[in-house]
Amino acid sequence: MTQLLGVALRGTGSCVPARVVPNGDFTDILKLDTSDEWIRTRTGIRERRFAASGETSASLGTLAARAAIAAAGLTPADLDLIVCATVTPDLMCPSNANLIQAALGCRPIPSFDIAAACSGFLYALSVGSQFVRTGAAKHALVVGTDVLTRILDYTDRNSCILFGDGAGAAVLSATPVLNTGVRTIRLYSDGTRQELIQVPSKVTQTPPPGPKQVPRLDYMRISGREVFRFAVTRMVELIEQAVVDCRELGLGGIDALIPHQVNQRIIDAALEASGFPSEKVMVNLDRYGNTSAASVPIALDEALRTGRCKPGDTVLLVAFGGGLTWSSALVTL
Ligand SMILES: CC(C)(COP(=O)(O)OP(=O)(O)OC[C@H]1O[C@@H](n2cnc3c(N)ncnc32)[C@H](O)[C@@H]1OP(=O)(O)O)[C@@H](O)C(=O)NCCC(=O)NCCS
Repeated sequence: MTQLLGVALRGTGSCVPARVVPNGDFTDILKLDTSDEWIRTRTGIRERRFAASGETSASLGTLAARAAIAAAGLTPADLDLIVCATVTPDLMCPSNANLIQAALGCRPIPSFDIAAACSGFLYALSVGSQFVRTGAAKHALVVGTDVLTRILDYTDRNSCILFGDGAGAAVLSATPVLNTGVRTIRLYSDGTRQELIQVPSKVTQTPPPGPKQVPRLDYMRISGREVFRFAVTRMVELIEQAVVDCRELGLGGIDALIPHQVNQRIIDAALEASGFPSEKVMVNLDRYGNTSAASVPIALDEALRTGRCKPGDTVLLVAFGGGLTWSSALVTL
């Protein structure tokens, strides 16, 4: 029988585009019927980053990956696997993971993408962890990267103000020490609620079911109010499950909660309902908006680099999004 290994989170990295887009640009430049005050008070977002021409989810992902590999004290030649989570890949084929593998100059290792929208990084973390835990990979690179600003309808004030671009990455390494690193991961999906967040693609044969007709097929459309309710309910459930998953640590043993950066009001409502202490929550959505698969790994990397979290801390990562999907991971750094 295979001897299972521990999965250490050995290094993290992130990359956001240089271009800052403040809320005011939606009124001043895009002439949208909204306001900085509405966006700030209803979402918590002040600004987000937009990828420049030539910047893509693969190029941002490559930069985040390089930073994570350097933080792990490794080189690209050490990697045995690349899993990239994205719903905005550069190409339909080949995968972003292939592009990142080439850009990093890795050996001919397995590399592939995962599409689980804003839960994507935790899905990729789960797959990477299982390769490492079983000994199939010694070092796995997991990337979450998206450029959602390329698929937004800038006439739809309900959705276009919410998102930004970016990438985050982590290197997972095998360790003989169990009960450290990645402890538990929970993944869920409910495809019956697929219409709540959708990006019909150019290969979609017929327009998908849904209440609204969209002017162009490949735009993101969301049912914000319903997603809000779903997100709060699931986030509360995931926090309660995590407390059960780490019985030996208890709620007090979770040093930080790093949630998907979607809306400050969603986070606040979930904290109030679950009783999780707000001072332990890492939030950076005010500066980046919702960066989809990149949101959790960017916040995790920022928490580590700013000293908000430190090696030895146990963090709870929580994400939810299109699918619908929702997910959590308990990780001791
Ligand atoms: C989208 C979201 C910010 C809307 O906030 P909300 O408080 O739920 O607002 P509502 O949808 O109830 O809309 C309230 C009013 O604000 C208006 N509104 C929506 N966007 C607006 C904007 N950018 N500026 C000004 N007014 C806006 C609506 O048209 C509505 O007007 P009405 O009452 O005249 O119909 C919020 O629901 C949310 O964050 N949802 C989740 C987002 C999501 O799906 N993320 C992706 C997946 S993780």
